[in-house]
Amino acid sequence: MKLFVDTADVKELETCLERGFACGVTTNPMLIARANCTDFREHIRSMIDVLIKYDAKIPLSVEVNTTDPAKMAHQSEEFVHEFGDYPYLNIKIPIGWNELKVIAQLARRNVPVNCTCCMSYNQAVMAARAGARYVSLFWGRIRDVGYDAGSVVRQTRESLDKSGLDSEIIVGSIRHLVDVNEAIQAGGHIITVPPKFFPQMCAHPKTDEAVAQFMTEFRAWEQAVQASQIKRAA
Ligand code: E4P
Repeated sequence: MKLFVDTADVKELETCLERGFACGVTTNPMLIARANCTDFREHIRSMIDVLIKYDAKIPLSVEVNTTDPAKMAHQSEEFVHEFGDYPYLNIKIPIGWNELKVIAQLARRNVPVNCTCCMSYNQAVMAARAGARYVSLFWGRIRDVGYDAGSVVRQTRESLDKSGLDSEIIVGSIRHLVDVNEAIQAGGHIITVPPKFFPQMCAHPKTDEAVAQFMTEFRAWEQAVQASQIKRAA
């Protein structure tokens, strides 16, 4: 299981990269819009710069920002041209009938695609068959409409395993800490997580208790040793 960082915020990304656990990064147009930047291309470049700074060598998904499949194909070419010097670039294309053509075209040219906004088993499987390197299933949004996101992920994983396709499931739209564990249990190869959850994910009250106990007893031992040395010297 791999953890990706679901962000377009360069500072948030850096806090994760310096801790070494991130296996990839996913962005989308909404995250870019919320990232406090004024130039899309410059912003993606600054994300790539920080990935290079940490020698991260991990996938970065950049999503097209149009709903017209012809323009998606054109924009994908632009992204490859502009950011293709980062060898781990993925193009994120939303699932759809005409969008499948764009996915297949990119896949034929070995451009890795992250097929995004998948909400169902059928969508995910068709995307994988079309050649998507990643299929992104949106856990929180699937649950919003009353479906069992766990079943969708589980069935997709079973089909991918049986088919021998090497597409991996990215579970996104994580809303709660528990979603991460449930998505892993359901068979997500990758969970892309908003950075605000990571500190919580590596915290545990029993860890705090254990560390505090170790320190308390160590300090007490140090003081006892010091006291006995002073006594001996006197
Ligand atoms: C994943 O690739 C998406 O960027 C993201 O997880 C979508 O999450 P949301 O449903 O919270 O917008």
